[in-house]
Amino acid sequence: MKYFLDSAILDEIRYAKTNWGVDGITTNPRHIKNSGKPFYTVINEIALEYAGSDAPISVEINPHLTKSDEIIAAGRQLAELSPNFVIKIPCNEQGLVAAKTLTEQGIRCNVTLVFTISQAIQAAKIGAHFVSPFVFWLEQNGVDGVDYIRKIKQIYTNYGYKSEIIAAAIRDGSKISQFAEAGVDIVTCAFDVYMDSFHSPYTDKGIAIFSEAWDGTEEGDISQWKK
Ligand code: E4P
Repeated sequence: MKYFLDSAILDEIRYAKTNWGVDGITTNPRHIKNSGKPFYTVINEIALEYAGSDAPISVEINPHLTKSDEIIAAGRQLAELSPNFVIKIPCNEQGLVAAKTLTEQGIRCNVTLVFTISQAIQAAKIGAHFVSPFVFWLEQNGVDGVDYIRKIKQIYTNYGYKSEIIAAAIRDGSKISQFAEAGVDIVTCAFDVYMDSFHSPYTDKGIAIFSEAWDGTEEGDISQWKK
C-alpha cells in the first residue's frame, strides 16, 4: 500500500518526503491556489523536489478545458515538463477520451473526481494508470466510502483491470486502515490527516504511565557500563 501526500505546500511536501517517506504527491487546483504561488512555479518546485526519483506527482489540467483535443494538448505539455508528472483529468466522457489517447501515447493519467462505480470501470477500461474515487465527498452525502472502494477493488480484481485505486479526499486518519482492508492500492491524504493517523490516546496514556515509572527509577551511571 502506498501513501501519497495531497498537497502543494512545499514545506509539507519536504517534511513528509524526508520523515515519512511518502510515495508520491497529488495536487489539485485548490491545493495550488492554497500554496499562494503561480501554477507553473509551484509544480516546478515539486518536480525539483522529486527530480531523479520515480515518485508520481499528479498535476491537474485546467478544469475549464472540456474538449478531449484541448485536454490532450494540455496533458502533453505538462508531461513534457517532468517525467514524474501524472496528468490528472476529470472523469467525464471527454476526459476519458483524452486519458485514453494520452495513455496510448505513454503518458500516465490519474482519472479524478470519480464518484460512481461505473465511472471507475470506464477509467479502468481505458487503461488509466491511477483512478481517484473521492470518498469524503460521497460520505458527506451518506455513502459508505469504504464499501465504495471495496466494490471497485473487487470489480478490478474480477476483470484483471490494472489501474491503481487511490482513495482520495480522506478526512480521518483512523480510516486509512479501513481503506487498506478494502484493498485500496494507495491513499492520498492531507498533511494533517497523516498527522492524525500517528495518534492514539492509548499511546499517550502509555507514555504517561511509563514516564511515571521512569521518574520513580534510579538511572544509575552509564560510565560504569561493563562489556
Ligand atoms: C485527490 O487527488 C484530491 O486532490 C483531493 O483528495 C481532493 O479532495 P479534497 O481537497 O476535498 O481533499
